[in-house]
Order: sequence, then C-alpha cells, then structure tokens
Amino acid sequence: MSVASPAGRVRVGVLVSGSGSNLQALLDAAADPAYPAEITRVIANVPGVYALERAAAAGVPTAVIPHQGRTRASFEAELLASLADVEWVCLAGFMRVLTPSFLDAFPSRVLNVHPALLPAFPGTHGPRQALEYGAVQAGATVHLVDAGVDTGPIVAQGSVAVREDDTEATLAARILGLEHRLYPMALRWAAEGRITIEGRRARIALGSGERRWLVES
Ligand code: GAR
Repeated sequence: MSVASPAGRVRVGVLVSGSGSNLQALLDAAADPAYPAEITRVIANVPGVYALERAAAAGVPTAVIPHQGRTRASFEAELLASLADVEWVCLAGFMRVLTPSFLDAFPSRVLNVHPALLPAFPGTHGPRQALEYGAVQAGATVHLVDAGVDTGPIVAQGSVAVREDDTEATLAARILGLEHRLYPMALRWAAEGRITIEGRRARIALGSGERRWLVES
C-alpha cells in the first residue's frame, strides 16, 4: 500500500503509550517541509497519555485503541485499519509487542527506538538493566521491528558513559536525549529509501559526513 501525501512526503503513523518525547522529536523534524516524512496519524493504546496532546498540538489526527480486555488479533486488526493510509510505522515508547499479523502489513517498514545498546538489554527498563549489570557504556538503538522482542536489524545507535553516581532516572534522561537525535535521523533514511536488509543486518546508503552512531561521554 502506498498513498502519497500532497507534498510527496512519506506518510508515517506513530504508535505511543506514554509521554511521547520521541514522538515530539519526530514531529519537530517533520515540521520542516524539506524533511522527507510526514506524521499523519498518532495512535495510543493507553487513554489520556501526554503523547496525544503533543500530536493534537501539532495538528495530527489521533486515535486511542486500547489493548486491554480483547484478543491481540482484534487489537492489531483495529490498529491496521487505523493505519490504512500510512507507509511507515514508528513505535515511540509503544509498550506492546506486535505480532506478524500486524508486521506483515508493513514488511521491514516498522521502526522502534529502544533505550539500550542492543542486542544487550532488550525488553523493558533498559537503563535499569544497564546499571544492574554494571555496564560502563549504555545507550539507545533505532531498529527495524521483527517478530522478536527488540531483535530486528539495527539502523542507528548512540552511546553514553555510565557515571558512578547515575541513578536509573539520570541515566535514562541522558539516553532519551540520544534517542531524540537518533530517531529523526533514522526515519529520514527510511523515508528516503536508503535502508536495505541483508540477512539480519540493515545497510544504510550514507551521505557524505553521515554516520550511524553517536557518542556522548
Ligand atoms: C523511551 O526511552 C523509549 O526508548 C522507551 O520508552 C521511552 C518512551 O519515552 N521504549 C521502550 O523501552 C520500548 N521497549 P517517550 O514516550 O518520551 O518517547
């Protein structure tokens, strides 16, 4: 399915479950008409989350599709119906695992941002896991979503040093700052058709001066 937006930009749906600061980073990037993607739909699985206010403030249509009290198949079918005219999907703090019945509708066209240097620390509480493990570097990953939990091809990563006095909150905040820089960059590559998949690896056609990683000390 491919429906061009009026400006010829790639139409993107964003799925959220919470504050939506990553959604905000994508909205801010897409506010530039030269950015190759446009956020055309924001869907929350949790009613009342702040991400919905961010979308409304940017003039983006929203929907709430709760996952509770129903089968995963019915939840995902409603998501798909609501995303009928988008070409790419970004998960931005979306805390549900999607099954092939959803993913097959967007083959290699779903991005996720995760607060850890994958493949380390998948699942929930990436910063907490890094601290508990005693990692000295932590970070964030943008990856394509496959049927596993945070196992899809890596598109971009950023790392931060873990400080001796870090708490989960301080480390998570520094990682989130990286996420906000990585995600718009990765979506640009996606929207420009510059990501190809080789086995479990993503390859990016990088422009001059571009790189797939960020480092903060
Ligand atoms: C972000 O740190 C994101 O990486 C994480 O939730 C936070 C959402 O923040 N996602 C996951 O842990 C998914 N496994 P946000 O709502 O402010 O974008």
